[in-house]
Amino acid sequence: MGSFFRDKLRQADVALTFRDVVIVPGWVEVEPREVDVRTRATKNYRLNIPLISSPMDTVTESEMAIALARQGGLGVIHRNCSIEEQVDMARRVKRAESLIIRDVITIAPDKTVGEAIALMREYNISGLPVVDGEKLVGIVTDRDVRFADKRLLVKDVMTEEVITAREDTTIEEAKEILQQYRIEKLPVVDSEGRLRGLITVKDIMLRGKFPNAVRDEEGRLLCAAAVSPFDLERAKRLDKYVDIIVVDVAHFHNKNCFEATKRLLPEVSADVVVGNVGTYEAVEDIITKLDGVAGIRVGIGSGSICTTMEVVKAGSPTLYATAQAADAVETYGVDLPIIADGGIRNPGDVAVALAMGASSVMMGNVFARCREAPGELIAIGGRYYKRYRGMASPSARARRYALDRYMQAKGIAEGVEGWVPYRGDVASVVEEFISGLKAAMGYAGARNIEELRRKARIAMLTEAGVREASPHSILLPTESTTEMR
Ligand code: XMP
Repeated sequence: MGSFFRDKLRQADVALTFRDVVIVPGWVEVEPREVDVRTRATKNYRLNIPLISSPMDTVTESEMAIALARQGGLGVIHRNCSIEEQVDMARRVKRAESLIIRDVITIAPDKTVGEAIALMREYNISGLPVVDGEKLVGIVTDRDVRFADKRLLVKDVMTEEVITAREDTTIEEAKEILQQYRIEKLPVVDSEGRLRGLITVKDIMLRGKFPNAVRDEEGRLLCAAAVSPFDLERAKRLDKYVDIIVVDVAHFHNKNCFEATKRLLPEVSADVVVGNVGTYEAVEDIITKLDGVAGIRVGIGSGSICTTMEVVKAGSPTLYATAQAADAVETYGVDLPIIADGGIRNPGDVAVALAMGASSVMMGNVFARCREAPGELIAIGGRYYKRYRGMASPSARARRYALDRYMQAKGIAEGVEGWVPYRGDVASVVEEFISGLKAAMGYAGARNIEELRRKARIAMLTEAGVREASPHSILLPTESTTEMR
């Protein structure tokens, strides 16, 4: 009597996820305020907090990426747009802060004042170095053009005697020069007088304002961007600006995705994260078949806007996927940070994901609620909301750029769209999440994320336990009398 199918059913894994488990409190020798939440996003990039925003068009554009990097996390710019639009968003993040701006917006001396004003407005800057070819010939600021006739030429209104700095000028020296001459911008030139960069008062001030920010070697904010594995051109263009490229497909454990990624990897210098995957075998294949991967993104179908598990009955809940990936990474002894992606609602979920081997978590829903997410506030019934949609929802698919994230050319939507309550700015959401995470780590007795991984024990709740885990037997002010649990 054959038992293949019955065994298959009997031996089915229990695919636990966040709502199913709790961290068992441990022996504690640490206070929450002493807990260290620093981690890594990828092999080569450190983060000061383990939070990353999803590459979704209602979550991460430049404003979100800037805000999160300033808090010590990371934003992954979405790819549901043209290459030019995505590159422009990455450039904006890289220009937001730096020791020396390398990618300086300049103007030629024979352009008009009107053109100078338009350029300053477009990039929201207050001055432009004037260059003839590469040579610095002057500087024009909003003060020079404010009341000038727009038809005049830049060379007629610019300041010709420019105070400049050499390439080896330190920040301290730059500060002194800026102060001494009471100027806002200090162009950096080489011995031939060619423009090599720009130091601004604004950047120096910003460094003090965001002490937890994560930056590259040039002092610019860290930035990541998503690409399709099949879009080599996009990857190469973004590579000039971003630190991390996220190969973004719904199910990466796929022959075509692997082959395309193999071609992509040697073409870019950024760290490359691949995903999403949900099994031990997928991670094993990444480790053994793809050379040069710097991180893995795991979880399939747990996202708050996902309908994949419901519609096509396929998926790997984020927590289950994280444990699978972490075991494969450990078995092979490789250095591959794991990003747990999808289904994270609160700080405790972050702690559970880290306890299961993730190095960071990715959140869409939580960050879509923030001011810095794209889109306007919408008032519904006296409350404010923001729009949030899955990248496989019908309206996101209509933009077509991200269609290849989901293999289904069949036109099955695997995402929904709707509204999420407005929560305020990224800084306050991060603060809430990080203090919650530190409290959870405190219960586990973990001083840092590595200790959390090793020490924290996990227990599974029953359905009754899940109900007991939230407030019960009480009428809460936000609920109607018929809803008492
Ligand atoms: P949360 O729960 O934070 O999840 O909102 C965000 C993650 O969900 C994934 N994602 C999708 N998954 N259909 C899916 O099956 C979709 O339309 C979709 N859009 C995004 C993605 O991994 C994201 O980071």
